[in-house]
Amino acid sequence: MRVLVLLDGTPADPDAPLIRVDDLGLLRGDGVFETILVVDGEPRELGPHLDRLARSAAMLDLPEPDRAAFERTVDVVLDRWAGGTEIALKLVHTRGVEGGDGTPTGFALATDISPKVLAQRVEGIAAVTLDRGIEPGLAERAPWLLLGAKSLSYAVNMAAVREAERRGAAEVVFTTSSGSVLEGPTSTLITARGRHLTTPPAELGILPGTTQAALFRAAEREGWTTEVAPIDVADLYSADGVFLVSSVRKITRVHTLDGKALPDSAELHARLDALYESEY
Ligand SMILES: Cc1ncc(COP(=O)(O)O)c(C=O)c1O
Repeated sequence: MRVLVLLDGTPADPDAPLIRVDDLGLLRGDGVFETILVVDGEPRELGPHLDRLARSAAMLDLPEPDRAAFERTVDVVLDRWAGGTEIALKLVHTRGVEGGDGTPTGFALATDISPKVLAQRVEGIAAVTLDRGIEPGLAERAPWLLLGAKSLSYAVNMAAVREAERRGAAEVVFTTSSGSVLEGPTSTLITARGRHLTTPPAELGILPGTTQAALFRAAEREGWTTEVAPIDVADLYSADGVFLVSSVRKITRVHTLDGKALPDSAELHARLDALYESEY
């Protein structure tokens, strides 16, 4: 099941050709996007996702996304959805056509959640560490690299997932060249030690995650402690649990890293899952 609605509120056929071949989102990956989880018709963290869409757009010097129009478009999509209870909802905002009047292209596309992601939520995943080739301070020193923007240029992220698959794993933990943990290609990394959660700082040039923020909020409310601090690869082996979290995958546990089994975190995973769900 898929539902597509253009930013002016017009529903469109997701199987029909639609985007112009000279759209800069297509030609250069010059645009930004968000992927939002919808459960029982309720988008989760819609406000933070729209905030992040605006922040990413500003980093790319794009026109500010029309927030009210995106909110209306989301409503139209959800009204038309007749599929399952969980939806992956993509919002896309590009620079528009090359040589045009600067009007951005915008749409919302709802799809089912892939069976692979649903299985990984339950079974956990094997991951490999891969060098992202960035160093602390680079994001601030070289803002044109757009580190920490959710741009449409995800070819590198997808190439990393293919490399993981070649190595017999499903996912990636990106690191700096000196072995500091960053994030997954489409997820935030969290470690747990007892009732203490840690995630790496966004200043390293990673995307601040809405799922991580929601989980930390819920955990703090229940008396857990949380910390945003650098994590070394070695810390991943000594943690009680390592998790890759994102809107659509929710909390997914990493059971194997670079071919080595991590401590069994199935029980911890269930507790984190319950904390996260308690937010909604
Ligand atoms: C690079 C990257 N980091 C982290 C995340 C997780 O963000 P969120 O929890 O807001 O979905 C994503 C989401 O797709 C991502 O692409």
